[in-house]
Amino acid sequence: MTLTRPFVVLLSVFFLNVAFAKEPISPIFALSKLNNEKVALGRALFFDERLSKNNKISCASCHQLTTNGADNKALSNGVEGQKTATRTPTVYNAVFNIRQTWSGARIDLFDQVDAPITNPKEHGTTWSEVIAKLSTDKELTAKFNRIYQSPISQQNIQHAIAEFEQSLVTTNAPFDRWLQGEQNAIDNQTKQGYQLFKRYGCISCHQGRNVGGNMFSKIGHFGNYFQDRGGEITEADLGRYMVTKKPYDKHVFKVPSLRLSSLQTHFFHDGSQDNLSDAIRVMAKYQLGRAIPEQDIQLIRAFLTSLVGQHPELTSPHEAE
Ligand code: HEC
Ligand code: HEC
Repeated sequence: MTLTRPFVVLLSVFFLNVAFAKEPISPIFALSKLNNEKVALGRALFFDERLSKNNKISCASCHQLTTNGADNKALSNGVEGQKTATRTPTVYNAVFNIRQTWSGARIDLFDQVDAPITNPKEHGTTWSEVIAKLSTDKELTAKFNRIYQSPISQQNIQHAIAEFEQSLVTTNAPFDRWLQGEQNAIDNQTKQGYQLFKRYGCISCHQGRNVGGNMFSKIGHFGNYFQDRGGEITEADLGRYMVTKKPYDKHVFKVPSLRLSSLQTHFFHDGSQDNLSDAIRVMAKYQLGRAIPEQDIQLIRAFLTSLVGQHPELTSPHEAE
């Protein structure tokens, strides 16, 4: 039997699609249909220190866009030197998370903007204070009037910042290019690392386009993470329990995206690890109940590094130890 050319093309497109569709990770792409004026306004607000009690803290104080969308601290500094309750997660690709924050207390980016403003350990202010301060700025008021056809309000501020955050997507990662068929976009070690990531079972929690961010899981399926860590157990350690008050949600967290993990200096909600290899070891022990040989750790690291994409603001990324 001879197959006609169009049929062969159709057949190969079908198999190619099936081949990639079967991977549990998919590429990420910049979101279209964002309003550029709102993005620019949101960006200005993201860097605006008037959004804090002492006019010294902005979103960008903790979420530094040049390095990795977070800072290089175990816990961050909010107003008047106060420490945050958890490590700061990145804002890059946060739009792809099913919920925001470690416990998933915030349903989306819009909802999340409210949290740091009033948190006494972050911006430590109130919305009426922020709006009063910003409203004395004639130029800014005119901008809001033009773009939102209404005065400065909590709703508009949240909307503009959330619009900006939706533009923080890292694209064109070597791994994504490989997923799309560019065979040489990643080297053999990275490919082996990906196979190990799947084979060991990391993929059962870190999956989808954000390689995480799409489900919740307990830390400590094997062994007692918190007992071994030591120190007191804080409310933040209770994770999702603080939202649902269901006993089975104790120590359950949103599985973090691993897209930029190789650019992080600290790991986990408590910032307890400062080395990516150690973070992988902790995962192997407490989530999978096994040890992973050093060589495999290095291969998995190579895979994690290939997940880093590009964004114009990400100019001086620091690399994990
Ligand atoms: C003092 C440091 C600090 C400041 C300032 C700050 N954040 Fe955060 N941010 C954090 C911490 C810590 C978390 C985790 C909070 C939690 O899990 O409860 C977080 C979480 C987030 C998340 C959720 C990410 C995820 O993956 O769940 C987003 C989005 C975010 N912040 C955006 C902002 C915006 C917008 C501002 C300014 C209005 C801001 N942050 C100001 C420290 C900060
Ligand atoms: C059963 C689900 C599950 C499995 C399996 C799992 N993880 Fe995790 N992973 C999590 C959760 C939940 C966290 C957040 C825990 C915390 O912060 O306390 C996490 C955090 C991490 C972090 C730190 C990210 C950050 O931003 O702090 C890395 C790195 C990581 N995992 C890598 C791996 C690797 C590599 C494997 C396989 C060896 C793996 N994980 C297996 C659920 C899982």
